[in-house]
Amino acid sequence: MTTPRQRNRARLLGAGSLVAATIAVALAVPAQAAGSTLQAAAAGSGRYFGTAIAGSRLNDSTYSGIANREFNMITAENEMKADATEPNQNQFNFSAGDQILNWAQSNGKRVRGHALAWYSQQPGWMQNMSGSALRSAMLNHVTQVATHYKGKIYAWDVVNEAFADGSSGARRDSNLQRTGNDWIEAAFKAARAADPNAKLCYNDYNTDNWNDAKTQAVYNMVKDFKSRGVPIDCVGFQAHFNSQSPVPSNYHTTLGNFAALGVDVQITELDIEGSGTNQANQFQGVVQACLAVARCTGITVWGVRDSDSWRASGTPLLFDNYGNKKAAYTSVLNALNAGGTTTSPDPTSTSPNPTSTSTPTPTPTTTTTPPSGNPSCTATYSEGEKWSDRFNGTVTIRANTNISSWTSYVTVNYPQRIIATWNGSPTWPSSNVMIMKPNGNGALSAGQTVSFGFTVMHGGNWTWPGVTCTAS
Ligand code: XIL
Repeated sequence: MTTPRQRNRARLLGAGSLVAATIAVALAVPAQAAGSTLQAAAAGSGRYFGTAIAGSRLNDSTYSGIANREFNMITAENEMKADATEPNQNQFNFSAGDQILNWAQSNGKRVRGHALAWYSQQPGWMQNMSGSALRSAMLNHVTQVATHYKGKIYAWDVVNEAFADGSSGARRDSNLQRTGNDWIEAAFKAARAADPNAKLCYNDYNTDNWNDAKTQAVYNMVKDFKSRGVPIDCVGFQAHFNSQSPVPSNYHTTLGNFAALGVDVQITELDIEGSGTNQANQFQGVVQACLAVARCTGITVWGVRDSDSWRASGTPLLFDNYGNKKAAYTSVLNALNAGGTTTSPDPTSTSPNPTSTSTPTPTPTTTTTPPSGNPSCTATYSEGEKWSDRFNGTVTIRANTNISSWTSYVTVNYPQRIIATWNGSPTWPSSNVMIMKPNGNGALSAGQTVSFGFTVMHGGNWTWPGVTCTAS
């Protein structure tokens, strides 16, 4: 039986229309209204978008106004840490944590709990403890805090930053580690017993690059926990990036490999030092890496405005000191909205002919709905030649209005890799994402089109790349 699309293709080929890049055939892609806030845009693909909140800033109306409008997952930046919640042994103080929880709940937002067991920001009495007394005190802390917030926390960072940096792949030395190597699983079991409905996460930094020893060490721990039934539901990637610690090109590989262990992954403390287009592109790469992994359930940025950041001098957030949206905000919003559109794989390319001839078999399709508002463009993907190990693709950019330039985002599906391009200037925020800009002047008048192309090594995955564009 032939499908309408196959018949359509047959007609195109029969008419000799081998170059059909300007003909758009709409796939049955669900219409997805573009979200105008980060939380709405993320919700388009079933994800959350969160921020860290400092309770002391909530009476700043610019701060709380942005936080309320843009984010739907809240992490207390410091107020649920041990030094805040148990300042004296067995005397708990939840007032600052509760203030943030109440603000979140009264505004319809969920809360990530941060953090139950950590070598840092311990109260003085805990810093001075060791051995079995510390182990008991730590477990009591986990139990009491998780019980206080029982039923109100989406996910707890049960253990934070327990592995060493560098090439050792070892646990970080700390008073907690010296209580015995099983302190981490003991903490997870205590948390599960106290709040069975919270997702339980291990959270760390410098675990973004798949090739790093620290990443491998955490991966092996999670794998071991899953195999032995230690209760763990998620892994948090802090994602504090700067020029010393840049977004790795294999980020989606890392997220995907952890997810394949049977845990959710979350980007929990995102900030990227820098400015302008470079910063915007890096934020976009992180968002696209998350969107490429089905079990990446959400992204949290570590503060609202640059001036609220723990690394304020690096201007690492999405809003400037005055609360204005930065270029990075726009790139995140656009990436989230693009992710809300499902790109259907081409049903006809699942059984490719490995000895395909050089005759291209284009089947153009509109894969993206441009955000409303001017200026705008539409990106259309069409198949090119196919070989046993690679295929060519063409993206046609159509200006819907007069535009001064365009940027196109091409997302390939693991293990695909783009190995060559033509008619554009590419950059690579991550190994599965290419940002293509025009060679030279990108101005187009309404209705005009321009095309660029690329070659994908497919590694057995024939799924079509996702393509979108933005115009200025
Ligand atoms: C930081 C806070 O942002 C600062 O206000 C505080 O002084 C120190 O801690 N990793 C974490 C977070 O898990 O808790 C840290 O937050 C940043 C690094």
